[in-house]
Order: sequence, then C-alpha cells, then structure tokens
Amino acid sequence: MSDKVFVFDTTLRDGEQVPGCQLNTNEKIQIAKNLELLGVDIIEAGFPISSPGDFNSVVAISKAVSEPVICALTRAVEKDIDAAAESLMYAKRGRIHTGIGASEFHIRHKFNSTPEKIIERAVAATKYAKKFVEDVEFYAEDAGRADNVFLARMIEAVIKAGATTVNIPDTTGYCLPEMYGQKIKFLKENVSNIDQAIISCHCHNDLGMATANTLSGVINGARQIEVTINGIGERAGNTSLEEMAMIFQTHKDLPFHTDIKSKKIYMNSLLISKMMRMPVQANKAIVGRNAFAHSSGIHQDGVLKHRESYEIMAPNDVGLPDNAIILTARSGKAALNFHLKRLGYELSTERLLSAYKSFLEMADRKKDICDDDLIELMEGKQPERQFEISHVQVVCGDPIQAVATVELKIGQNEFRESATGNGPVNAAIRAIDRIIGEQIELGELLIQSMDGGSKDKGKVHVAVKHKEQMYHGFGLDNDIVMASVRAYINAINKIKGLKSRREKRMKAAAAMSV
Ligand code: KIV
Ligand code: ZN
Repeated sequence: MSDKVFVFDTTLRDGEQVPGCQLNTNEKIQIAKNLELLGVDIIEAGFPISSPGDFNSVVAISKAVSEPVICALTRAVEKDIDAAAESLMYAKRGRIHTGIGASEFHIRHKFNSTPEKIIERAVAATKYAKKFVEDVEFYAEDAGRADNVFLARMIEAVIKAGATTVNIPDTTGYCLPEMYGQKIKFLKENVSNIDQAIISCHCHNDLGMATANTLSGVINGARQIEVTINGIGERAGNTSLEEMAMIFQTHKDLPFHTDIKSKKIYMNSLLISKMMRMPVQANKAIVGRNAFAHSSGIHQDGVLKHRESYEIMAPNDVGLPDNAIILTARSGKAALNFHLKRLGYELSTERLLSAYKSFLEMADRKKDICDDDLIELMEGKQPERQFEISHVQVVCGDPIQAVATVELKIGQNEFRESATGNGPVNAAIRAIDRIIGEQIELGELLIQSMDGGSKDKGKVHVAVKHKEQMYHGFGLDNDIVMASVRAYINAINKIKGLKSRREKRMKAAAAMSV
C-alpha cells in the first residue's frame, strides 16, 4: 500500500503573485472549482490582508468549493491572522498558513532580529492562529538556506504550539535535490515531536530543480507538496503540479500516490494559461504543446509500431486527445504513411517511396508540413476552398465595444461579415465564424512576442477543435489582431482542405458504386 501525498495547490496565491497574472474573483472561483475536480487536497486561496480583492476571493472560494481544505496565508502578525480567520468564515475546512523567516538573511537583515526572538514570534503566531482554526500550517521562510539545527528547534517549537503541518520552503530555489532531501531527513530525525505534523515541501524553480527537490523531500519523509499548475509562480516559478502527479503515476515503484485525476490535468493547464495570460512553453513537461509530439523519423517509426517505444505515459492519461506525429524534414516514411492514411490515401510501397522523395523536397523548403501540403503533394495542386484574407478592419477601445469586419476570398468569391466581441481578436474571429458558417471550437490562442522591443512582431498560435480533432494554426504580424486572424485562418484552412479532400473522395466512391 503506497503512502498518500497531499497536494496543496498554491496557483491562486504564489502563482497569482506573478506580474500580469492577476485574476478577478470570478476567475478565481472558476479555477478553484476546477482544482476541486482535479482532486487537489488543499487550495491556498490567497493572502487576505494583502488587499480587499484577495480577502473577498478567499471568502468566495470558501463558499464555492466544499471538498478541499481552503487555506489563507499570513505573516506572523496578529492582524494578518485576524483577516485570514475572518476570510475563512465560510470554509467547510479552513487552514491558516502562518510563518516567518528562518535563514540568517531573514533573521538578521529582513527582521533585524535574533534567532531566539524569531522563534518566540513563530510560536506566538501559531498559538494565535490556533485560537481560530484547528488546522494551522507553519512556514519557515527561506528554510532552504537556513541552518538545519536552528530550523529543527523552530519546527519543534511550532509543533508544540499547535502546528499540524510544517512547511519547509526553498524560497529562493537554492537547494540541490540531495541537500533538500537531507534537510527533510534531518528534521525527521532531530525534531522530537515531528510525528505530530505533516512535513510539506514548497520549492521554487530558480535553478530548474523545484520538481527534483520536492521529490527528494517526499522520498525523505515529507507527505505534502506545494505546487502550482504549469509551475507558475514567483520568478522562475514553483514546483509544477502536473510533473509531481505524473511522476508518482508513472513510477509505480515509488511507494507514493496522490488523488489527482490525471485526465483533468490538460484542461486545467489550458484554463490557467488562458486566464493568467501566461503561455506554456512548447517543451514544458506534461502539458507543453510538444510534450507528446514526435518529429524525428526514428521516434515516429517507433511510436507508430508501439507507443511505449518512445512514450512513458499516454497523452490520454493527462487528458490530451492523442500524441502528435509532426511532419518535418527529419520524419521517416512511417510518419508520412500514417498521415497519408489518415487523409484517405492508401499507397503501395513503391508509391510511398516516390511520395516520400517529394515530401523530403517539400519539407526542406517548408519548415512545417500540414495536411494541405500533403494533399498538394498527392494531388499536385492546392486543395479547394482555401480562404484568403482580403481585408480586416477592427474598431475597439474603452468603453466602446469591439467590432470587426472581415473579408475573405474563396476562389473567385468574396465574403464579408461583421461581428462584435469582447475584444478585437474575439470580434474578428466571430466575423470569420459567420463567413464559414460552422461551429469551430477555439481551444487555445497564445500571443507571444518574437523578440521584444517596439518594432516587435506578434506570433500567434491557435488550436481549434473540429469533429473531435485538433488543428493548429500559426500567424505572424506586426499587428496582433492580424497575427491572430492569420493563425485562425491557417487552422481553418487545414480543416477545410481535409474536408474537401474527403468530400471529393466520397463523391468519387459514390459515382463508382452507381
Ligand atoms: O516561497 C515561500 O517561502 C512562500 C511562503 C510564503 C510559503 O511562498
Ligand atoms: Zn513560495
């Protein structure tokens, strides 16, 4: 029987502190509800003394969510604890998370104090919080750089004062995995009352080791992990929830498990990325766009023969529809054949060989080969019904509602539609939807700057869903509305090219059977 590791999600507190990631209360409620469905045990909902908005969000989340424990952060200050206690009034199970610095840097420079006085403040804050709630978590800030003997004294004192969880943050992301693990082991072995509390790991990713450090902490005795979706958080971020959950799920040899419902990981990642306007790097473990994309010929061939040759987990496990076999100049015949079959082309070995030769020439010219290119490869011409952008005009501002007019050309025909939206991009997309007259589900729209500066170009990636299949489009322009429109049309053209090809084949098949 493996040990349960409690998942403490701090996306709404440490994650939300990131500049530009601020959320309103409704958005926080939506995220909290999704975290509940994901199976997190504790939601750190905010730092109530920091602003009325944070206070209200903790109140609202306490009302909206019933399964997870709702936690509120404080400093070791009575007025902070009062605010936290009040904000947790409606929580079915509330936790106060209080604490103070434990390293020399914090004790001497931040507080201009002494180790003894800091322990006194830590104990007083814990006892004060205990007057309001039974569930008190204490954090020893900058524990990563703290002296282990002092840290052990501090932790022993706060457990005696009533702390039921003791958080050992590597606030600056300084530790190495071995070092952080040894710290947890030292506490397990040198704090006399440690069995009366759960040890929690809270690691930052400044050296890219947050996940490794957290794992090392668990192996050495911690049973709570403090994590965020997509690893967002201060500076380089926090330990990522999806990485820890999938480590335990993938390594069945490790005697640990969480209650995370892994199939809900991907949609939570998309939700956070969208709401916090924080793109996920393409190669981010578990949730990055390329996390399950295979582009080298040898890997593609291996995956197509037997998925586990190059995949340690299935895309479905984290809620992704399927792995992606990307076509580039490094792809092999197996990958080409896979995509051609998907488009309805069954080729003999000989025909596949010659198609592969032409494909390599095409892939050398173009970086990314999409369905349209394959159809062109097979048919010798562009697929029918390609949309071309003739004209885009948007009017937006504050307080006027955004309006967009879009003109698209299909063959010799021009189509024009206007629509309103909650912003210029949304209005333009709605106008395009009117022209194509079909329900396309927009899954993701990421706007990234290419290289910064005032002459920068915006690069947009969109993912749209049509009949259970995802299509990706890319657009580049000085104007982000135009870049978004280009990306959307690029994705739509992929759907249309595929559809027209299918329609043509079906018509041909019907004619033959008459
Ligand atoms: O990184 C840190 O030390 C924190 C504490 C407030 C828990 O976020
Ligand atoms: Zn932190």
